[in-house]
Amino acid sequence: MIPLAKPELGEEEIALVAETIRSGWITQGPRVAEFETAFASRVGTAHAVATSNCTTALHLSLLALGIGPGDEVIVPPHSYIASANCVLHAGATPVFADISPGSLNLDPAAVAAAITPRTKAIMVVHQIGRPADLVELAALARSKHLTLIEDAACAIGSEYRGKPIGDTTHAPLVCFSFHPRKILSTGDGGMITTGDAALAQKLRLLRQHGMSVNDLQRHRSKTVVTEEYPILGYNYRLTDVQAAIGVAQLRKLDGIVVRRRAIAARYDAGFAGVPGLGIFREPSHARWNQQTYVIRLTGATAAGRDAFMQRLLDDGIASRRGIMSIHREACYVSRFGAQHFPESERASDQCVCLPLYTQMTDAEITTVIDAVRRHAPAVR
Ligand SMILES: Cc1ncc(COP(=O)(O)O)c(C=O)c1O
Repeated sequence: MIPLAKPELGEEEIALVAETIRSGWITQGPRVAEFETAFASRVGTAHAVATSNCTTALHLSLLALGIGPGDEVIVPPHSYIASANCVLHAGATPVFADISPGSLNLDPAAVAAAITPRTKAIMVVHQIGRPADLVELAALARSKHLTLIEDAACAIGSEYRGKPIGDTTHAPLVCFSFHPRKILSTGDGGMITTGDAALAQKLRLLRQHGMSVNDLQRHRSKTVVTEEYPILGYNYRLTDVQAAIGVAQLRKLDGIVVRRRAIAARYDAGFAGVPGLGIFREPSHARWNQQTYVIRLTGATAAGRDAFMQRLLDDGIASRRGIMSIHREACYVSRFGAQHFPESERASDQCVCLPLYTQMTDAEITTVIDAVRRHAPAVR
């Protein structure tokens, strides 16, 4: 069986985890601080705040901006459900704006049309790690006095106009995921980057119960420190055990991205000219980490897509439907009624994610290419 994804974990991660366990400090302590410093330096920003996952990173980002009940946040419907759920968690309303035709990212014209007097922020998702065009969205946000937040769950290792995603040139807050299907994995885990010291401070308060002094500061102090709780906070900590994996993973980032891009290039070449099959190219403004390799079965219905995926499975190849359309899920229909975003819906029905992991052998890559070439032209 060829799986969809496989994190690249090895002796480096095991050694750092063992060292961390032996140190006796296993939650949000020195290893988390080390991971944050290394991450901030890697993406070229002043601050990085680790969280338990990307959903909590997005939730804290909204709270740190003061977004809550009565506010609206514009979100693409074409994303993992967490992109919109975090807005509901903050007590605000997610307002969907469709994606651009041919892209899986927000359409700036649809965003402009969705702005109301209640809009406070735009959440741009770098879907499948493929960077959205931030310049236009950042200009729109500025002109309407809105904050741009980047959901970069999939985008560590990608670059936009020559700078790493996460560098906060275009948005004050950028959120990452370290779920096992992402480029770097800590099991679960998240990170928020920001260039704003006050926002970073607020995020640190919010992620640990609103506590004014963290355990690491208390431990290192030569005088007695008593903490205070000025605001309502959460327990969204990353553990030191997870951070140890993250430190080791981050050191491998460049190699992981190079390998993923090489596999994607082989897929691109293998799928060229196949009738009924579309691929997503690297945008001219970006270097893409190839977090997910998606093909589009042009003209397919959702049933045709499922039949294609079943044929792959029968051949021993795992795949997943493409990105979901959040507004079609029952928990959104029950809240907001039926909504339609045709580009998102078409892309959800026609797209399929293929296996891509750094350890893939040449034979496995060839097996996937041959199976897709065999089955795609028959899809209706
Ligand atoms: C675009 C996007 N946003 C947010 C998330 C949530 O990330 P996490 O699982 O780390 O909470 C995901 C996870 O798949 C995602 O793909």
